[in-house]
Amino acid sequence: MKATITSTAHYVPEKVLTNSELEKFVDTSDEWIQSRVGIKQRHVVNEGEASSDMSTEVAKSLLQKRGISPNEIDVIIIGTVTPDHPTPSTAAIVQNNIKAKNAWAFDLSAACSGFLYSLETGARFIESGKYKYIMVIGVDTMTSILDFKDRETCIIFGDGAGGVILEASKSNSGILGSILKTDGSGAESLNVLAGGSKFPASIDTINQRQHYIKQDGKKVFKFAIRKMSDVSTQLLKENGLSGTDVDLFIPHQANKRIIEATGERCGIPKDKVMINIDKYGNTTAGTIPIALNEAVEKNLISDGDYVLLSAFGSGFTWGSILIKWNSKN
Ligand code: COA
Repeated sequence: MKATITSTAHYVPEKVLTNSELEKFVDTSDEWIQSRVGIKQRHVVNEGEASSDMSTEVAKSLLQKRGISPNEIDVIIIGTVTPDHPTPSTAAIVQNNIKAKNAWAFDLSAACSGFLYSLETGARFIESGKYKYIMVIGVDTMTSILDFKDRETCIIFGDGAGGVILEASKSNSGILGSILKTDGSGAESLNVLAGGSKFPASIDTINQRQHYIKQDGKKVFKFAIRKMSDVSTQLLKENGLSGTDVDLFIPHQANKRIIEATGERCGIPKDKVMINIDKYGNTTAGTIPIALNEAVEKNLISDGDYVLLSAFGSGFTWGSILIKWNSKN
């Protein structure tokens, strides 16, 4: 039995932060950001708006599009590194917001790979035969951990959420395979140091700005291209395919140059590579499901198409998932 995606949705906050606005409080330029990263603007939450709020919008839209009631959802999995609170989980808040009273719900932490890890988990639950409908959401409110004095990070990220409903495929289509990886030796290159059990919040951690995301941009850049292209190529090979067979490649939207170099290394034609980083920036666990829903809404995917997803993020975590699209099931 294979799992298949039968509903897609996304939500981004209304408020837009352009590169020109960023120029006013950090030493950067619209020209630099567009040429080095490929971002023109990002959406950002209003004060008081959190990951559960964006996820709830996605969840409602997923249910409405699939035409099922909240009671039918068995499990809600939310990939995020910016939960509303350390506990309870964002997934529990969403479960209550949408009144999914038969669902159990949990968050999964894998940074920019959060949606792929969650999708893999949900797909295996479907394959077990125990569950019928699984809601998988990727969401991040990156502005809650951004240092607007650090030009290496604050220009890259944005806020947003996307998700899917998974159910058992009635054909041989759906999620064909996956390769997911972790290399914890990369922890120092991309992290938020404080606010957990190692460095609980204190006056010191705040003064040292340790609640913000920090990165070694150059290292992450190189690793992201190499690791995403390696697993994507291997996954295609395992399924008897090559880059030219891919109908749509939806990579994590971290940097336009990373996206283009990864597509090239996988031998995927440029016009088959989904890019929307210009509008949203890097929304961490949100990028892939947002791009997937945009692709569906723009009719860029038809049943029978090979859709390849790939991500890389903090941990390091990375991976690829191959789908033979089958939305009508
Ligand atoms: N605006 C203007 N100039 C900037 C800048 C900014 N926001 N950030 C860095 N610069 C400057 C640097 O100081 C440097 O100046 P110098 O040559 O005078 O020393 C110059 O631009 C080039 O810096 P460099 O670090 O080589 O830039 P880069 O091309 O590597 O781009 C990143 C920096 C962060 C955009 C890039 O490395 C990247 O995207 N890395 C991956 C990060 C990522 O995706 N993280 C999320 C995890 S999935």
